[in-house]
Amino acid sequence: MKDFVSVVTERRSANKFNTGVPIEDKELHEIFDLVKYAPSSFNLQHAHYIVVRDEAMKQQVYEAANKQYKVQTASAVILVLGHMDAHQNVEEINEGLLNLGVINKQEYDFTVSAVHQFYEERGEAFKRDEAIRNANLSAMLFMLAAKEKGWDSSPMIGFDPEAIMKVLNVPDRYVPALLIGIGQEDTSKRRVRGYRKPVGEFVSYERF
Ligand SMILES: Cc1cc2nc3c(=O)[nH]c(=O)nc-3n(C[C@H](O)[C@H](O)[C@H](O)COP(=O)(O)O)c2cc1C
Repeated sequence: MKDFVSVVTERRSANKFNTGVPIEDKELHEIFDLVKYAPSSFNLQHAHYIVVRDEAMKQQVYEAANKQYKVQTASAVILVLGHMDAHQNVEEINEGLLNLGVINKQEYDFTVSAVHQFYEERGEAFKRDEAIRNANLSAMLFMLAAKEKGWDSSPMIGFDPEAIMKVLNVPDRYVPALLIGIGQEDTSKRRVRGYRKPVGEFVSYERF
């Protein structure tokens, strides 16, 4: 088991994966079983993942993803979506707590109405921001969880959102946040680690 610092510092964005390395349902499930602990606004869990392993489907994703070679060599390519109407699930998400008596009916009703109001007042742009914000937090956890389990990943924004949505049959109200390749990195093709700003350059205290 890798410690947290090793997971963080050893994760790299793979440029190429070793081919012919299958990733099984069980292995993906173990990763997603950690991903479910990601934080999300009001615990609405906006993220949805589409895992593509079928070679013909991967080829279509490759075409929609600027023909990035890493899509073809990945064991799986995964589209991370954010749900723009995740707030509509607030009842369902809180029902269990209500039924168990962890929250009472008054607390449940308050949460439900507050969450609906919060999203509806702020409108479409906010719903989209929320979808992408929460999906990306989840996606980061996915990459770290994968690394901990011995898998490498490659986040990608280089794709045509409309084309990829069509290929993967993504319903309306889901926004593609990130495409992630997962597999075993071909380290001979590894890029040098990019420059990282020192802490003093990206952290301010009290004021910008
Ligand atoms: C949101 C996001 C989008 C990215 N899109 C791409 C991409 O389309 N193609 C690519 O080769 N790398 C992509 N990357 C990988 C970055 O280039 C990489 O994270 C960065 O150079 C730092 O390298 P490291 O992750 O190995 O530390 C993306 C990374 C992020 C976080």
